[in-house]
Amino acid sequence: MPVTLSFHADCPNCRINSRLLQRRASTLLRECRVSGHDLSIRLVNDTEMSWLNEHYRHKSGPTNVLSFPLSENADEGTDNHGANIQLAQIPIKELGDIVISVDTALREAKEFHQSLHDRLTWLITHGLLHLLGYDHELSEADAGYMLDKEHELLNKLRHSRSTSMTQLAINVDHIATIRQARGGVEPDPVAAAAICEMAGAAGIVVHLREDRRHIQDRDVRLLRETVKTRLNLEMGANKEIIDIALGIRPDMVTLVPEKRQELTTEGGLDVAAQKKMLAKTINKMEKAGIPVSLFIDADIRQIKAAHEIGATFVEIHTGRYCDAIHDKVREQEFQTIAAMAEEAYQIGLRVFAGHGLNYQTTARIAALDTIEELSIGHAIVARAAFTGLDRAVRDMLAIVQEASRIG
Ligand code: PXP
Repeated sequence: MPVTLSFHADCPNCRINSRLLQRRASTLLRECRVSGHDLSIRLVNDTEMSWLNEHYRHKSGPTNVLSFPLSENADEGTDNHGANIQLAQIPIKELGDIVISVDTALREAKEFHQSLHDRLTWLITHGLLHLLGYDHELSEADAGYMLDKEHELLNKLRHSRSTSMTQLAINVDHIATIRQARGGVEPDPVAAAAICEMAGAAGIVVHLREDRRHIQDRDVRLLRETVKTRLNLEMGANKEIIDIALGIRPDMVTLVPEKRQELTTEGGLDVAAQKKMLAKTINKMEKAGIPVSLFIDADIRQIKAAHEIGATFVEIHTGRYCDAIHDKVREQEFQTIAAMAEEAYQIGLRVFAGHGLNYQTTARIAALDTIEELSIGHAIVARAAFTGLDRAVRDMLAIVQEASRIG
């Protein structure tokens, strides 16, 4: 656990949401590019803080926050603002302790008309910057650098909070599969998409396959006109479909490998082996204002290649995690997805995930706050046969929202 939060203070007048603070602290570590390091946050009372302040700083009375870096003697470099920061070279992957007095934080929250959690967040940010080598007491310039960095981080945190709920996009291909079984007009994936949106889906996904086994050209044309959230067109990078995409202009495209014989998309793209071809497709789409996602396995080589060729998103394949029969294998697959989502996020890619997710396997993936959106189809359409589509979407949405709220 990179962030541990411990209480050494009784606080009868307040309820502290430790999950919320841990989550915010994890976001701060990520924004400071030190998410591989451990951080300990200790919440104490004024009595303990006064003792620490006296003992370590020879100052009497309590203060709001103290930082105790673990790596005071490690080699230090400077960042572009002159702060002592070169964590990559610190052999110990622990940043140290931030100690906060809850009593003082409560008084300050009242004084500055902030919520207690916002005050604690500010104190964590301030304490973390001290651990990273920023020091406002060194000079006026240093105080300026530290203040700027604090503002930058708090702004990012605000942004990440407003977008941190994982989104659910629904793949309606299998509604079309049922229609195609009889070659008629029902059920219509365009109507299904409207029901999904009304039930709270954040996007609609369809895969226009070369063999047109489910979604037809007419569906994509109509969906472009009717989808009010975001239309994500899944496709192989072949000329015919690229031309259709450029004509229809979905909100984004997801490039997937496509084999005629497969039942469903089997594995991720080998981006590393097809860089040139995929880069050309990304370029064409980007010129038309269509951002591109690459569907990849949870593999660092593929993530790096996707970034190199200018993808905006990657969608991480969750199939092996979902299909695992043994708990141990499922756990390993989950850990790989979590680690690779983190890598992709760090490198600057936006991260989606999907394939095979169902009502049992979705929650853990939705709880990863590096993943913005899940793309789910089959499980929802299968349940809809018994419960109706609206209910099936709402049930999945409840799982996604609950998991991403508690992280
Ligand atoms: N993401 C991609 C890239 C896919 O190819 C599919 C299947 O069409 C999905 C997500 C959705 O998978 P499922 O239907 O198993 O939920």
